[in-house]
Amino acid sequence: MSTTATTFPFSRKAQRTGDSPIAWLMRKTIEDPEILSLAAGFVDTGTLPNDLVREAMEKVFAEPRTGRDALQYGTTPGYLPLRQTVARRLGEQGLGQVDPDCLAITNGGQQGLYTVTEAMVDAGDIVLVEDPTYFVYMDVLKSAGARVLGVTTDDEGMTPDGLRDRLRELHETGQRERLRILYLMSYYSNPKGSNMSARRRRELYDVYLEEIGKGPMFLIIEDACYRDLTLEGEPEPYMKEFDKGNEHIYLTGTFSKALAPGLRLGWSYMPPDIHAALCRQKANQDFGSSNMNQRILLEMLEAGSYEVASARFRERYLVKRDALVNALREHWPAETEILHPKGGLYVWARLPEVDNDPGSPFFNAVLDEKVLYVPGYYCFCEETQEPKPKDQMRLCYGVIDLEPMTEAVRRMGRVADRFLKGG
Ligand SMILES: Cc1ncc(COP(=O)(O)O)c(C=O)c1O
Repeated sequence: MSTTATTFPFSRKAQRTGDSPIAWLMRKTIEDPEILSLAAGFVDTGTLPNDLVREAMEKVFAEPRTGRDALQYGTTPGYLPLRQTVARRLGEQGLGQVDPDCLAITNGGQQGLYTVTEAMVDAGDIVLVEDPTYFVYMDVLKSAGARVLGVTTDDEGMTPDGLRDRLRELHETGQRERLRILYLMSYYSNPKGSNMSARRRRELYDVYLEEIGKGPMFLIIEDACYRDLTLEGEPEPYMKEFDKGNEHIYLTGTFSKALAPGLRLGWSYMPPDIHAALCRQKANQDFGSSNMNQRILLEMLEAGSYEVASARFRERYLVKRDALVNALREHWPAETEILHPKGGLYVWARLPEVDNDPGSPFFNAVLDEKVLYVPGYYCFCEETQEPKPKDQMRLCYGVIDLEPMTEAVRRMGRVADRFLKGG
């Protein structure tokens, strides 16, 4: 007797992995070129450093020997001279002696987040995140089968009180054993644009230090993805600076935001045992990140091109951020609340008590005006400490040009006026 079936029996993990909730927002933008998207999280196209990358590529391929080295397989943790350079730069940024053997180069910061999660989280394990958080990481966690518990945030990100409350609750309900990761965005978070003060970093780390003796070890992920897009003043010191012995914090950054996401290169600096576990997973995935792209990147770091490219991005985003904030002040109702970001790519806005969830009358009215935004709905956790707000949203000034950006804000402002006056 033969058994036949008409559908493939997908793995549990595949079954847990849905389309990214904002995939359709992105699709919409592609399908309808008239749409003005304040949702897309891409970087400013006109600022991408074509000239500098071409120069670096020419150098890498000027000699057959260096060119062929670049075309060969590399190592799993990444090209050693690149790791040494990243280690030196981190040292200069306040981390002192950084061991390149505790650094990994990954396919964007995203692969690092995915892989460290793969190494640490089994289905049913718990991860604490800021609420709202980076929704793509939330997808990674759901796919791993993690329980994602949101911790309340304020204008500086996760609150120490919120974290204490969550930890207490885990003890009281006998679930502390399942805690694996505490995920924090320390600079200009996605989606809120919030930045942690030095004091907040210390407070959160102190709560962590108090906790680690009380149950199994868990890892802090410090995601510093937007640090190099500091638009005002100097960046705060990394939280990782407190972790003198490199025992507790997985610090990650990227070359996507201030250089080129097309290179798909990010880095992470982590405790040695985490590094070993991460590299084993990464070896299974891809043996190592593109050797060629790593050599191009190293060339750019050594020639000072990274500084040039990142300064260009900062200059451009300063103009765009100010234009977006000013347009919101000019065209949106006076009741609008915004969090003024000191860096990054996002403005977090609140239209008090206007439900902007996907499919809401407000959302549809904005869509009728051919404008898209990211409803806060996608960024807040399912398990929150406070009821999930419906009146907050993420606006991105990354890829949209100045004129369409102002027009999008104007159109949304007209809709907002109507809704605040009762629809
Ligand atoms: C908070 C945060 N972390 C990490 C990433 C990963 O970016 P990439 O993989 O391009 O380095 C992103 C991308 O948008 C992000 O917003």
